[in-house]
Amino acid sequence: MRALAKEKQAARADRAPTKRARSAGSITNKDVVPFRRALLRWYDLHRRDLPWRKTRDPYPIWLSEIMLQQTRVAAVLEHYRIFLQRFPDLPALAAASEESVLAAWSGLGYYRRARMMHQCARQIAEQHGGLFPENSKTLMTLPGIGRYTAAAIASIAFAEPVAVVDGNVERVLRRVMGANLSAQQTWQHAQTILANSRPGDFNQAMMELGATVCVPRAPRCPECPVRKWCATQGEVPRVKSASRQGKKQIWCVLDLRNLDWQNLDWRNQGQGEVRMVQRPNQVSLMPGMWELPQISEPRRQKLWRTFRHSITNTDYTVHVVQNRSVRRRGAAQAKAVSVSQPQKAARGRWIPIDHVPQLALTGLSRKILKAGGII
Ligand code: ADE
Repeated sequence: MRALAKEKQAARADRAPTKRARSAGSITNKDVVPFRRALLRWYDLHRRDLPWRKTRDPYPIWLSEIMLQQTRVAAVLEHYRIFLQRFPDLPALAAASEESVLAAWSGLGYYRRARMMHQCARQIAEQHGGLFPENSKTLMTLPGIGRYTAAAIASIAFAEPVAVVDGNVERVLRRVMGANLSAQQTWQHAQTILANSRPGDFNQAMMELGATVCVPRAPRCPECPVRKWCATQGEVPRVKSASRQGKKQIWCVLDLRNLDWQNLDWRNQGQGEVRMVQRPNQVSLMPGMWELPQISEPRRQKLWRTFRHSITNTDYTVHVVQNRSVRRRGAAQAKAVSVSQPQKAARGRWIPIDHVPQLALTGLSRKILKAGGII
């Protein structure tokens, strides 16, 4: 109700552009209202049908915004569904162990996001009575919630007229204005053109336009709802992206034992084990996550498969060798080893195959284990 009243009040403001609007580069004062209208009309007709757009509940909106940082929509969809199934609301997430949160996040990468979400859920439960603060300023005091995420949650869930700027919005504005804007100018312009009547939809429309029409390489200008206000029609000098570190080659081993090699459905073999290593808690990249042991380039072992994988700004070519120990006699009767008490291996631990899906796996290891039929 509160959000609706705020929207009605803001709709009046939308029809009367303020003095601020005059500063919006190539969008003059008189252009602001038609620009907003054209963009929102396009969004209503063409927006992608995404699950987080069907709700005003800040919890799933927050989850989607965090997952969408550094990750494409297509890759987020399945993880979003699984995570919500496992932790359907804020109390469930706040009560969970970090290990189980990381396991549910497994495969999405950038695990710091999951850790911060977990801490944030606990803080909201302890300090805000389990309810999300309803304004961007207070949201920004929470772990893992910066200016972008705070504005996204506040505008989409609570209709606060506060602009969102992500990479897509930045590109749209740069092209519309025909200039490379500083970060401060970008936020200012975004705030100036924001439709106060529907701030959440307007913000999502700007991001959607950047993601689907005003794309980096070959913008689809003929389909653009705001092209008549665009100074460049897509012809804008591209800002240099953060440089990639290049390519690295690594080797790792898929060490398997106690498997019945005649029976190819390994997932159902209680006694089969795979050797895994847990990353130290002190490292900055994926601390505490489980992965396959890395090795130096092997001389005698035969290559099993090669994978390509990117982590932050490095592209890896990953060569995997597979070791298969022969099934021990009587192994079928051996007691299964639990994850909490796994048997120590030369390097890493032997993990029963049916426990592997419960581990917080790195994305690369998940990829390899899937290809090997282990998970
Ligand atoms: N990118 C991140 N969040 C988004 C949203 N809610 N809509 C469109 N693109 C987005």
